[in-house]
Amino acid sequence: MVLAICYLICYMLIMCGIIGYTGNRNAVSVVIEGLKRLEYRGYDSAGVAFFSEKGIEVRRCKGKIRELESFIESENPSSHNTIGHTRWATHGRPSEENAHPHRADGVVLVHNGIIENYLPLKRKLMQKGHHFTSETDTEVLCHLIADYAQRYQIENAVREALKEVKGAYAIAVIKEDEPDKIIGVRKDSPLVVGVGTGEYFLASDVPAFLSYTNNVIFLDDGEMVVLTKDGFFITGLDGVSVHKDVKSVSWSPSMAEKGGYRHFMLKEIFEQPRAIADTLRGRFNAESAEVNLEEFNITEKDLKEVERIFIVACGTSYHAALIGKYMIEGLVRIPVEVDIASEFRYRNPIIRPGDLMIVITQSGETADTLAAQKEARRLGAKVLSICNVVGSTSSREADAVFYTHSGPEIGVASTKAFTTQIIGLYLFAIAAGKVKGMISEDVSAELLSDLLMLPGKVEEALGTDENIKDIAKEFFRAKDFLYLGRGIEHPVALEGALKLKEISYIHAEGYPAGEMKHGPIALIDEELPVVFLAPRGRLHEKIASNMQEVKSRGGKIIIITNDADEDMRMISKKCIFVPKTNPYLTAVLMAVPVQLLAYHIGVLRGCDVDQPRNLAKSVTVE
Ligand code: AGP
Repeated sequence: MVLAICYLICYMLIMCGIIGYTGNRNAVSVVIEGLKRLEYRGYDSAGVAFFSEKGIEVRRCKGKIRELESFIESENPSSHNTIGHTRWATHGRPSEENAHPHRADGVVLVHNGIIENYLPLKRKLMQKGHHFTSETDTEVLCHLIADYAQRYQIENAVREALKEVKGAYAIAVIKEDEPDKIIGVRKDSPLVVGVGTGEYFLASDVPAFLSYTNNVIFLDDGEMVVLTKDGFFITGLDGVSVHKDVKSVSWSPSMAEKGGYRHFMLKEIFEQPRAIADTLRGRFNAESAEVNLEEFNITEKDLKEVERIFIVACGTSYHAALIGKYMIEGLVRIPVEVDIASEFRYRNPIIRPGDLMIVITQSGETADTLAAQKEARRLGAKVLSICNVVGSTSSREADAVFYTHSGPEIGVASTKAFTTQIIGLYLFAIAAGKVKGMISEDVSAELLSDLLMLPGKVEEALGTDENIKDIAKEFFRAKDFLYLGRGIEHPVALEGALKLKEISYIHAEGYPAGEMKHGPIALIDEELPVVFLAPRGRLHEKIASNMQEVKSRGGKIIIITNDADEDMRMISKKCIFVPKTNPYLTAVLMAVPVQLLAYHIGVLRGCDVDQPRNLAKSVTVE
């Protein structure tokens, strides 16, 4: 377990955007321009804090940066020291009060990340007389620093405060009576310093200041920078000075927005180790091997009484739902029905009070899913929404929400949202399995330990990229594709086919491998690539015989596996290997190569992989 936790920590990081500037230019304009360059990270509110004759002024808004720009334009503030932020909500709805910067007694702060112990800290600060105006963990950190700032200079106040904090953060802090300084610190969330001539920048990503300088210092965890317009110094949180090299980056601004990746889709596929780690943060206690039920907003008693579960979703989220069925039926031993949302509402479903409906929706705004959710509540079921967007309609209208925290997904094709939805379902299945007495402490500990190792294994699975690129070169002209899998790999086959259709416009079908002989076998000829999702496991021999059926008809076999015997290697044209894990999580590792295959084929066919034709990121109409 300890090793697994170390693995996990390596991948944690949250989205949102920070920018700070000190120098002779109009700092507010530089910061607003920087925020625009960070828009690609996704956000739901924004704000800036700048110095004026009255002290530090804060302007914030819900929604787009242009709102912020318009009131800044009307005031035309000039400042040489400014910080700004784009927020992607994690604690508290997207709103003006929850937007950053936050202020407490002359200290003003912006923050990316999650302060895990913010509730006990908040209670302690309230006892000391601090008042809070938002629902955020960030405001708590601001008050904590302000509390220490009554006794210390700002950099020491930040150091002392951070000693009490558990979680991930990148912060930028300014203080009213120390107007020359911007303090930045990071832990598990990126923060970079831009080094100009007589001007310095602090940002969560390089593109924020790339139009001014390409000289960059990448801060490491536990490092603090103090910027003034005359220079900067970097220390550890112990105050000991640290030497860092200035690196010159050769990215163009638009390349950098995608973090050096050619497309958002590829970036998001590669972000999955980090996204999964973020989904896991604070969700269970590694020592007691207990899933934190509060996260599902369900009491043990209610969960014990659940006799049937419905899972409803659309598209890729529906494929996650099918995977969830395997997990929940396997670990909790209660029946799970899975529906496509657009069908559910019109099929007159038999739902009783006491049933639990899980809706899965990345955006939280899919019209069909929302309608199904409404219908289930009307019929008396409790609804748990597994959702990525804080404050979305699904999250607001559900009885309980499990946020996947995978960060904004910009590519229309869902990738990291899918794998993190599976993680939510896996955690739910472990929690419910334990409450229902279907899995022991030991089994739960083992399942959670596998989960902690997962980000590292997804990273390994991403190592198949070069191999997949070669495979894509061989098959990108194909007219059709067939994806086959059995058991929990069947939904991965469906997802592989959907991804390929969306991104490359090649006709593709996903099927349970055992069903092939009942029809799709007629499609097989020398032209047809057939992708087998074939991990070593209970159904290995069955799927091996399905491969023989394809082989004998001339189909071109591509195998995605975690263990191939000699026969399989002989039979296949191409083999892609992912690491081994338990059978439930194998589905996550198998999803990575199918995403990459669709991506590379789409690129080779010259398709717009981030914005495929006819598709929208969130389908808000029926
Ligand atoms: C996936 O790549 C799709 N673009 C699409 O199928 C999507 O998963 C579906 O529209 C559901 O969206 P949601 O998760 O936001 O509800």
